Amino acid sequence: MASLKDHWNKKYTDTPIAQLGWYESKSQPSLQLIENCAVLKDAIVVDVGSGASALIANLLELGYQNLYAVDISDVALEKAKALLDQEQAARVHWIVDDITNPSAVLQIQNVKIWHDRAVFHFLTEEQDRQTYKAILEKTVMSDGYVIMAAFALNGATICSGLPVQRHSVESLREFFGDGFNLIESLDYTFHNPSGDTRPYVYTRFQKI
Ligand SMILES: C[S@@+](CC[C@H](N)C(=O)[O-])C[C@H]1O[C@@H](n2cnc3c(N)ncnc32)[C@H](O)[C@@H]1O
Repeated sequence: MASLKDHWNKKYTDTPIAQLGWYESKSQPSLQLIENCAVLKDAIVVDVGSGASALIANLLELGYQNLYAVDISDVALEKAKALLDQEQAARVHWIVDDITNPSAVLQIQNVKIWHDRAVFHFLTEEQDRQTYKAILEKTVMSDGYVIMAAFALNGATICSGLPVQRHSVESLREFFGDGFNLIESLDYTFHNPSGDTRPYVYTRFQKI
C-alpha cells in the first residue's frame, strides 16, 4: 500500500497545479483572516499542508518576512518554490513533515499565525487530531492565532481520494477547547477547477 507521502507526491507529480481540486489562484479568505490578525510583518507565519498554494507568494507580496511552508509532500514544496524567484524562495523556510507523526515542525517556536486550509479535515482519527493539537500547544505562542479552513458540514466527504471529516464552527470550537478563543468565522463556497462547489468553514482562533 502506498504511504500517505507517496499518495500526495503522486498527486502533485501527475496533476498540473491549476487542475488540483483545491487550487485557487489567490488565497482570498485566508489572506483576509491573516491580515485581520494585524501582526508585525516579521512575525512567524506557518502554512501547514501548504502544498503548491499561492498563499506563500501572496504573503511575500504583502511583505511577510518569516514564512514557513510545511507539507508531507516534497514534490508539492518543490512546485511551490518554482512559483517564486530564487531570492524569494530562499527567504521561506520549507519543511517536509507529517503532522500526524511530527518531527521538524516541532522545532518551530513562537508561531504568531498558524494557517491550515484543507489539511486538518483529513484527520479522521481522534489520535491524529490530538497529535495536531499537541503541535499547536508546543509551537504557537500565547496570543498567537490559528486560522483553520475545513470542509463544512454540507461539504464533500472525499478529497484527493481520501476520506475527510467535515466541520462546523462548533466542532472546531470543541477541538480547540478552553485554550483558544474563537475570534471570527465565515462560510465560504469555493468553486474548484471543475466548477463544482466546495463549501468551507473558515475560523480564526487565538491561543490564550
Ligand atoms: C487539499 S491540499 C491543500 C493544499 C493547500 N493548503 C491549499 O489550500 O492549496 C492538502 C495538503 O496537505 C498536505 N498533507 C496531507 N496530509 C498531510 C500530513 N499528514 N502532514 C503534512 N501535510 C499533509 C498534502 O500534501 C496537500 O498539499
